[in-house]
Amino acid sequence: MTVRLWVLSDLHLDVYPLDLDPPEHDVAVIAGDVSERLCRHVLPWLADLRARTGKPVVYVPGNHDWWKGKYQPQLAEARELAPAAGVDLLVEGEVAVHAGVRFVGATLWTDWGLCPDQRARAMSDGADRTTGMHDVRKIQNRRGPGSYSAFLPVVTAQLHRDQRRRVEAALAVPYAGPTVVVTHHAPHERSLRGGEWQTPLDAAYASDLSAVLEGPHAPTLWVHGHVHESRDYRVGGTRVLSNPRGYVEVTPGTRGQPEQRKPENPDFDAALVVEV
Ligand SMILES: [Fe+2]
Ligand SMILES: [Fe+2]
Repeated sequence: MTVRLWVLSDLHLDVYPLDLDPPEHDVAVIAGDVSERLCRHVLPWLADLRARTGKPVVYVPGNHDWWKGKYQPQLAEARELAPAAGVDLLVEGEVAVHAGVRFVGATLWTDWGLCPDQRARAMSDGADRTTGMHDVRKIQNRRGPGSYSAFLPVVTAQLHRDQRRRVEAALAVPYAGPTVVVTHHAPHERSLRGGEWQTPLDAAYASDLSAVLEGPHAPTLWVHGHVHESRDYRVGGTRVLSNPRGYVEVTPGTRGQPEQRKPENPDFDAALVVEV
């Protein structure tokens, strides 16, 4: 029996709205960056999608979904809200099973080590509050009771280590059917813009998980987001797939001329369904 997965990511609904017309599918797989404000905006939107389609929604938060919030309290609140929303919230290597397919999900973040001898430079560039990753100032990290600080690369590197370990542990558990890993950040250099490492900050988008993709517990499919270009390629035994919408560049209309909209990723397919 094949199972139809509706694969989406990086909708960025807070940047520009989107009306989805759900295709025929069995499970929706959403690999993060739906909108900022996970609990206030994202989970209600996913609950509405779940109610409209009547189909399971497997969702992994992207970095943007955590924006404008404190990471740890937001995660705790989201875990409480997700069951009532009918959403499988996978954040750090949790497992959900639908229609005989096993889903393992994590935001994943990165280890900043895609180009190992540039790791220190990548983390320093990523931490720059002006030219680095906006996550540093858009997400707050709990240091202790009531005490929060910037969401620095050293924090995401630790999250990556923990989440990767849990994803690998979940994959090592024998399972008879297909397994799909869902992450926001990418598992391989080929997912980067241009298809290869070019600058130290590229290490904020992907880590090298070739050992997992080529290992004995490789999943059938790995869905990710974060890089706003579509991807569909194979490494080892795994098909790596992304279908990000990305941003929409809007030029305001002038007298007699309508607003112009230019999608960042022209290859985005709002009705992409793949079978496993
Ligand atoms: Fe994104
Ligand atoms: Fe992202």
